[in-house]
Amino acid sequence: MSEHLCDLLKIRYPVLLAGMAGGPTTPELVAAVSRGGGLGVFGINGMTTDAVRAAVATAVEAAGGAPVGVNVLLAGPTEPTTDDTALTEGLRGVRICFGLEAPMLPPAAAPRTAAADLVAAALEAGASVVSVGLGDPTPVVDVARAAGAPVVAMVTTAAEAERVVASGADVVVAQGWEAGGHRSTFLSGPGDDLPSIGTFALVPQVVRAVSVPVVAAGGVMDGAGIAAALCLGAQGVQMGTRFLGTRQSGISEAYRERLRAAGDDSTRITRGVSGRPARGIPNTLTRTLDETGHLGWPRQAAAIADVRRAAVAADDPEHFPLWGGQNAGATAREPDDAEHLVATLMHDARDTLRRTGASLPG
Ligand SMILES: Cc1cc2nc3c(=O)[nH]c(=O)nc-3n(C[C@H](O)[C@H](O)[C@H](O)COP(=O)(O)O)c2cc1C
Repeated sequence: MSEHLCDLLKIRYPVLLAGMAGGPTTPELVAAVSRGGGLGVFGINGMTTDAVRAAVATAVEAAGGAPVGVNVLLAGPTEPTTDDTALTEGLRGVRICFGLEAPMLPPAAAPRTAAADLVAAALEAGASVVSVGLGDPTPVVDVARAAGAPVVAMVTTAAEAERVVASGADVVVAQGWEAGGHRSTFLSGPGDDLPSIGTFALVPQVVRAVSVPVVAAGGVMDGAGIAAALCLGAQGVQMGTRFLGTRQSGISEAYRERLRAAGDDSTRITRGVSGRPARGIPNTLTRTLDETGHLGWPRQAAAIADVRRAAVAADDPEHFPLWGGQNAGATAREPDDAEHLVATLMHDARDTLRRTGASLPG
């Protein structure tokens, strides 16, 4: 039997904050989840090493001795579905609205900081867990091992689970189809044949496939969801959308309001924003990009970065991506406190398990 998730990650409660790069996971949110007894995870994808050092140091200090994790994305490039001229033309109207110049599209082989360098900077600044999404963790395993940090890898199939464990992952996150944000699929490619296994079916199959602790992700918004995940054999949960609703998250009230208003069928998978499939609430930006096509990962994200920045600055939820899971409607009516939320979730999970057990016939 493998070591329990909580012992391995040195946390009190088996609740992991999803590292959400690009703003949602602020140092305050990460620190609050860790202080609350879960694992605060900072999404460092797309940052510079200096920015990683500063933000992680802030989170580690505010966590008051509790462990802090970081998350990077290890996706390989994808094929474009359009060209530079068509993308520029497709976004012309949006750019005019925001007063933006014609875009300086990034070169096809724009230099990016290697994931291992970002992780090394985070570990130097005090992070103690390394989480990866969208790929095989091999590029960061050595740097994590050298620092004694466990590696947590997110997958969408049992075959991917076997692969990440063979590559050195100590914990597997089983990401169900319900999940908000990018699909972590990396073995079968990002095409139309995307594996779409729901959390309920995926978790037990991943548990059977590997002997390391498994964490469930996708659609978990409350204590009942945590209880269900544990019943399916997971040792914990990773939650993204629910933590967006807390007051420490980096998203705006307009974004939170869209999450609260979501119904069961309100989200869709789009490839337009980054060139890789991701789940969110459709808006003018995603509908435009679905029509225009994309320049592939990682070029597409860089090509529309100025539009996203302008939309966030204007707090215009029609023009920045509204990533969220299929259970987004369970977002708190009022922003709540992330530190307190961890304890509430655990209390509700215990309560659900007690009540459900007591009500079983026979
Ligand atoms: C706004 C947002 C941003 C995300 N960014 C990342 C990321 O940077 N890295 C990552 O591994 N997963 C990311 N995810 C996916 C989460 O790891 C996780 O699979 C998902 O949030 C679980 O589903 P839920 O949103 O229903 O809780 C993101 C999810 C959301 C909602």
